Amino acid sequence: MPIVSPSVLSADFANLQRDVEMINQSQADWFHVDVMDGVFVPNISFGLPVVKAIKKHATKPLDVHLMIVEPDKYINAFRDAGADLLTVHLEACTHLHRTLQAIKAAGMKAGVAINPHTPVQLLEDVINDLDLVLVMSVNPGFGGQSFIERTYSKLRYLREIIAENNASCLVEVDGGVSAGNAGLLVKAGADALVAGNFVFAHPSPEEAIIQLKNV
Ligand code: DX5
Ligand code: ZN
Repeated sequence: MPIVSPSVLSADFANLQRDVEMINQSQADWFHVDVMDGVFVPNISFGLPVVKAIKKHATKPLDVHLMIVEPDKYINAFRDAGADLLTVHLEACTHLHRTLQAIKAAGMKAGVAINPHTPVQLLEDVINDLDLVLVMSVNPGFGGQSFIERTYSKLRYLREIIAENNASCLVEVDGGVSAGNAGLLVKAGADALVAGNFVFAHPSPEEAIIQLKNV
C-alpha cells in the first residue's frame, strides 16, 4: 500500500482544525504541508505559524514541502514549527548537499523535490544522502492542476538510479494525483502519493484517502 499524504493546501483554512482531525481519523499516513514564498513559485500559501498550528493537532508526521528560495535560512525554524520530513527544491539550492546535511543535523528527514523540467539524473550524486525524492507531476504553485504524463517515465528512471546506487530513499509524487492515476504511479515506482484536490473536493475525503491506499 502506498503512503498517502493529503495536501493541506486544499483544506478549508477557516476550518483547519476540523480538516486536520479528518486526516488524523483517516487512513492517511502523513500531512503534506506546502509552503510557498511568491518568489520560487508564483503563489503564496502560508508559513511557519500555520505549520505550527497544524502540528498542534496533527497525530501523524508533517511532510513539509518548501517551495521557497534560500531554504537554508529556515531549516531550524521549520524543525521548531514541527516538520518531521523537510523537502527542498533542487532548483532552489546552490549547495544542495550542504542543505541536506543541515536538515539531517537539525533532526529531520531530508527530501529533494524536482520540477517537471528537471532531469532525475541530477539526483544521482545525492541519492544516498536522501530520505525522499519528491517528483513534481505539475509545475509547483497551485493545487488542482492536471497531471503531466511524462512523470511515469521519470519515476521508472529514478527507480533505476535508486537500485544502481543501493539507495533507500522513498519516492513521492505530487500534483494531479487521483484514484485514476494512482495505480499506475505506484507501478512506475511511487512509494508515496500526495493528493490535494482529489481528497478535499471529494464528497467524502476519508473515502478518497481509502481509494488511494487501495490502488
Ligand atoms: C503544488 C503543491 C501540491 C498541491 C497538490 O505546488 O506542491 O502539493 O497541493 O495539489 P493537487 O493534488 O490538487 O494537484
Ligand atoms: Zn507539495
